[in-house]
Amino acid sequence: MDIKILVLVDNYVPRPQGLMGEYGLSLLLEKDGVRILYDTGSTGIPLISNMHVLGVDPTKMDYLFLSHRHLDHTGGVLKFLETRGGAPIPVISHTMLYEPSIATLGGRTREIGSGLKEGDLESRGGRPLFIQEPFELIHGVWVSGEIPREWGPSHTEHLFRLEGGRLVEDRMDDDMALYIDIGKGFLAITGCGHAGVENIMEYGEKLLGKPALGIVGGLHLVMSPPGRVEKLVDYLISKDLKVIAPLHCTGPQPHWLLANKARDAYRPSGAGDLMEL
Ligand SMILES: [Fe+2]
Ligand SMILES: [Fe+2]
Repeated sequence: MDIKILVLVDNYVPRPQGLMGEYGLSLLLEKDGVRILYDTGSTGIPLISNMHVLGVDPTKMDYLFLSHRHLDHTGGVLKFLETRGGAPIPVISHTMLYEPSIATLGGRTREIGSGLKEGDLESRGGRPLFIQEPFELIHGVWVSGEIPREWGPSHTEHLFRLEGGRLVEDRMDDDMALYIDIGKGFLAITGCGHAGVENIMEYGEKLLGKPALGIVGGLHLVMSPPGRVEKLVDYLISKDLKVIAPLHCTGPQPHWLLANKARDAYRPSGAGDLMEL
């Protein structure tokens, strides 16, 4: 088994390699030679530039997976497809990809959805596959589909969607993870973690029938209520994970706690970081 996870775009750039950062996430997942682009960052500018710096050929990608519809994960989709010169590629996303997403932060209301509309992907070579249910994308890599909220809180504060012209609370049902089977267990790959980290991990265990051994991606703890970060860190430690690589919207406090409490598993990551398993 040959698994690589390369961080292409993140809020944080750890080393001076000529890489760009932005508020967003994009990962290259490679398993047994099959390459999946997981999210595309906010604008596509760091994505394409960092691919160039890191020697990643955008034309040699087999799938594009979008974890959820927020712009900081979908904003680089069109630039990515255009850089490929319209070469066909399957684009796996939830059925809500084109729905607006409204955020109310600091007294301001903003649209933070993908801004994509029907035809945008197809006209640039994207072959959309809209899903809600789990399925095995390639051997040993599962798309979660919608994640039940049975085991812990979700992270959807300040988020709304439109229903009949009115703003209603958004559960972010479109938030999906990938689960990579690594033999004795699996790694969970999260975009923003809106579904809630406990839900993402426990649902993966139910779906794959084996234990979670790691988590890589955004844990969305930046706007958590008091006590939430400590509780989640304790949960992660209780799982006896081998890898905890928080990225993107995790926020600084979990890094500090995990660096102190989960020294063996905690991996300070960021753009340019390559994890090989
Ligand atoms: Fe995000
Ligand atoms: Fe998000």
